[in-house]
Amino acid sequence: MAEVTLDLRGIPKTQAYETLDEHVESVLAGIDDPIAGMATISALLHHGFGHLWTGFYRVVEPDRLLRVGPYQGTLGCLEIAFGKGVCGTAAARRATVLVEDVRDFPGHITCDARSQSEIVVPVFDGSRRLIAVLDIDSDRRAGFDAEDQVALERLMRWFERTR
Ligand code: SME
Repeated sequence: MAEVTLDLRGIPKTQAYETLDEHVESVLAGIDDPIAGMATISALLHHGFGHLWTGFYRVVEPDRLLRVGPYQGTLGCLEIAFGKGVCGTAAARRATVLVEDVRDFPGHITCDARSQSEIVVPVFDGSRRLIAVLDIDSDRRAGFDAEDQVALERLMRWFERTR
């Protein structure tokens, strides 16, 4: 089994995400269970980069409701309606939402007052069905950029192997 205590801090981002991709592939080899994928990817991302909060909100009522799934960090909100907050907006749009300063996002849902910026990426299964969103919060302003977006969207393609 691969080394699971992965520290990606201080490594150039391109290389950090490549290393992360390799770990995800290796740790999840032979697995096609979305919850196992969410749990494992949350842990690797969270501890690898030292994020404030890293986890998934699952679609439990299509086009209506997200409910918290596997995550790392302090207690997260349990449910978020489509269209609400950053997570609900990304789910409704089926597109990534990158927020450089949460104070500039009307309707941002504050679960942890330390959160300054966040990125939310939609997650699709092999049938292009939206199954979840990945939510990552940072305690720094502009903690994420276009490179994170591209890399995280690529990482979320792992879930296309699930049904
Ligand atoms: N920031 C999110 C809420 C979830 S927590 O941060 C874990 C949002 O506005 O969608």
